[in-house]
Amino acid sequence: MRSQELVLLLGKNESYLIKAGSDINTKSGIIRSKDLLKSKFGGKIKTHLGKEFLVAKPTILDLISKKFKRGAQVVLPKDIGMILAYTGIFPDSLVVDAGTGSGYMSIMIANFLPKGKVVTYEKDKRFSKIAKGNIKVSGLENVKLKEKDISKGISEKNVDIVTLDLQHPEKVVKHAYKSLKVGGWLVVYSPTIEEVIKVSKALRKYFSNIKTVENIVREWKTERTTRPHNVGLVHTGWLIFARKLTGS
Ligand SMILES: C[S@@+](CC[C@H](N)C(=O)[O-])C[C@H]1O[C@@H](n2cnc3c(N)ncnc32)[C@H](O)[C@@H]1O
Repeated sequence: MRSQELVLLLGKNESYLIKAGSDINTKSGIIRSKDLLKSKFGGKIKTHLGKEFLVAKPTILDLISKKFKRGAQVVLPKDIGMILAYTGIFPDSLVVDAGTGSGYMSIMIANFLPKGKVVTYEKDKRFSKIAKGNIKVSGLENVKLKEKDISKGISEKNVDIVTLDLQHPEKVVKHAYKSLKVGGWLVVYSPTIEEVIKVSKALRKYFSNIKTVENIVREWKTERTTRPHNVGLVHTGWLIFARKLTGS
């Protein structure tokens, strides 16, 4: 393990995302820096009280949940998973995204593009500052942030997927159509049904195969008895998928 490398320590009922290089106080005792620097990902390490932790490489979700700063409302993994699956994204896809907000969606998508990239537009400096910090923490080099208003136009051409999570997505539909390649997808994330209706009307002018979905995920308790949790986030938003079938 290199000094300053990000490490996830997974115990039975506790976890820590830390930079290797100094001693760590856990609820189950101290993990010495010298032991951590000698350890490898996938190996085990013990506290001074003999309690064991797994030394794991943090995933993008670990970084998001423990290290990212959050400004505007973010798109959650359940909805991002659906975008990846329903568009059949390629490892080298070019994706244009807006608004960046805290960068959760653009960073998550970029994480699945080893040979591709995400160009994300944000018009508000307060959010682009937060997103820049999160992009840095992610360590990804394939997310490019543009401090621009996407309703003024998209300069990228031959784009595989455009994702929109902003107010008035209907103002971006024509720009998205022009920038997409034939066969490409526009995906709009909308928190209200009023917005879904408005943007769907705009989409029908340019796009085909339009599909609106709501992804409801329920977690279940399985420890003592088996039943769904009675509290939890049920509704997030709707996803509208629209495919470009004609040349612009
Ligand atoms: C709900 S947030 C996006 C959250 C983001 N999808 C995430 O997962 O972190 C909406 C963002 O869109 C930005 N925005 C709104 N209209 C925009 C436009 N025309 N061009 C670029 N950004 C825009 C807002 O400033 C805000 O930061």
